Amino acid sequence: MTILLTGAAGFIGFHLARALLARGARVVGFDSVNAYYDVTLKEARLRVLAQDPGFTMVRGDLADRAAVLGLAETHPAIDRIVHLAAQAGVRHAEVNPYAYVDANLMGQVTVLELARRLERLTHVVYASSSSVYGGNTKLPYSETDPVERPFSL
Ligand SMILES: NC(=O)c1ccc[n+]([C@@H]2O[C@H](COP(=O)([O-])OP(=O)(O)OC[C@H]3O[C@@H](n4cnc5c(N)ncnc54)[C@H](O)[C@@H]3O)[C@@H](O)[C@H]2O)c1
Repeated sequence: MTILLTGAAGFIGFHLARALLARGARVVGFDSVNAYYDVTLKEARLRVLAQDPGFTMVRGDLADRAAVLGLAETHPAIDRIVHLAAQAGVRHAEVNPYAYVDANLMGQVTVLELARRLERLTHVVYASSSSVYGGNTKLPYSETDPVERPFSL
């Protein structure tokens, strides 16, 4: 099993990568290692992952279509995608809305276009945001709740 894991330098991605590698999977990490929060933390995570021979890191931005789509040629063995790379945080969207459009909207489409090009692909999982439930007052949230009033892009 060869899993493309976007957001591998992130909080969830790092821990998921470790769990998948421990199971014997091969993991291709993809991350821009952006400076939304402390880059030294992300670099420290990548140093840990680099110690596992099953881990390969590709540094790139989801907004770079050629870099993402090129994974179909450079890593044709990918048969699963876990897409976690995203511009997270709701309040920051008011400061830098284009980062959300580039990473979360265009990036999502580009990852799905990559999926169409991977001949061995069997499964795609992606993370959304609890903010899709926006002002809902019903707790706990459920995946079947309405999402007409999201808090962020
Ligand atoms: N942590 C939570 O509590 C939580 C809750 C709900 C949803 N999520 C979702 O789970 C996913 C991962 O969350 P996290 O907490 O690990 O976030 P995180 O910010 O720690 O990790 C995201 C990673 O994506 C990378 N990234 C951002 N924009 C990129 C781009 N344009 N191209 C390539 N890489 C890019 C960042 O460098 C970072 O390493 C996100 O989609 C987030 O919205 C997280």
